[in-house]
Amino acid sequence: MKAKIIDIYFFSGTGNTLILVKELKNFFSKHGYETNLFRIEKCDPNSINLDHTLGFAFPIAAFSTYKFIWDFLDKLPETDRETEVFMLTSMAFFSGGMTGALKKIMKKKKYKPIGANEIKMPSNFRKKEISAEKKQKSINNGINKAKKFAHDLIFGISNWRHLPVPKPFTKFGKSEKPWRFMREKNQLEIDFVKCVKCGNCYHLCPVENIEMTPYPEFADKCQLCLRCFAFCPSNAISFKDKKIESYKACDSDDILQY
Ligand SMILES: Cc1cc2nc3c(=O)[nH]c(=O)nc-3n(C[C@H](O)[C@H](O)[C@H](O)COP(=O)(O)O)c2cc1C
Ligand code: SF4
Ligand code: SF4
Repeated sequence: MKAKIIDIYFFSGTGNTLILVKELKNFFSKHGYETNLFRIEKCDPNSINLDHTLGFAFPIAAFSTYKFIWDFLDKLPETDRETEVFMLTSMAFFSGGMTGALKKIMKKKKYKPIGANEIKMPSNFRKKEISAEKKQKSINNGINKAKKFAHDLIFGISNWRHLPVPKPFTKFGKSEKPWRFMREKNQLEIDFVKCVKCGNCYHLCPVENIEMTPYPEFADKCQLCLRCFAFCPSNAISFKDKKIESYKACDSDDILQY
């Protein structure tokens, strides 16, 4: 990588992506690269530094990713400096070909794609609980892959492989209609007896879908990132008419510090 400063823009709903991104940062730092982490939901795409190497990291959702992440990527400025860029997604089983779709966006904006990796982590959207042992094994595998990816990026041997997946898969996540359907099928609700009005869900929501009145109230912009569900200290948030196991791979403060 030609720039000695690396800026990684990431989103992590329940911590998997953050774990991988922190592993990249550790590896880069050990090799003399200054590495900064920024939460996508807090950043203006037009304020990124085009003289740094850029990384984008986020989870796969519905064979695509969340609409606010697409919006951020679509709004990135064009570069005239051959800005190097890499991408990392965390997923449970299948990405829908995100790497191919993103490479197109990057090339159109004249960035230099230097590597992409899709790393399997435990699913955060599951009906059955995962054993602690299985969860840790899967996370450790992911960490090892992230380390190798960081190594390959530094030594210029990474690539941007992508599956020849038809466009509609990734297009799905970009439009509002399928997410409306997902929201209808996966409605969140508050248990007012359990809720202690701490506001954690309000602070964590990346799309300002929660208002405190004084109990939390959901609007209609939910992206199903699962942050509020995962990090509610009283387990007061659940899915209406369905059982989904709560999953988290870090504490909410680990996310909020960036
Ligand atoms: C609404 C939703 C949809 C998902 N869809 C997919 C999917 O299509 N393919 C996949 O491999 N994983 C899918 N996942 C699983 C996540 O991508 C995976 O667990 C990821 O590591 C979560 O990262 P995070 O903890 O950083 O949010 C989905 C998760 C959610 C919440
Ligand atoms: S995080 Fe949980 S306890 Fe806190 S306000 Fe939200 S629903 Fe209530
Ligand atoms: S309401 Fe909860 S699940 Fe929906 S976007 Fe906000 S934090 Fe994520």
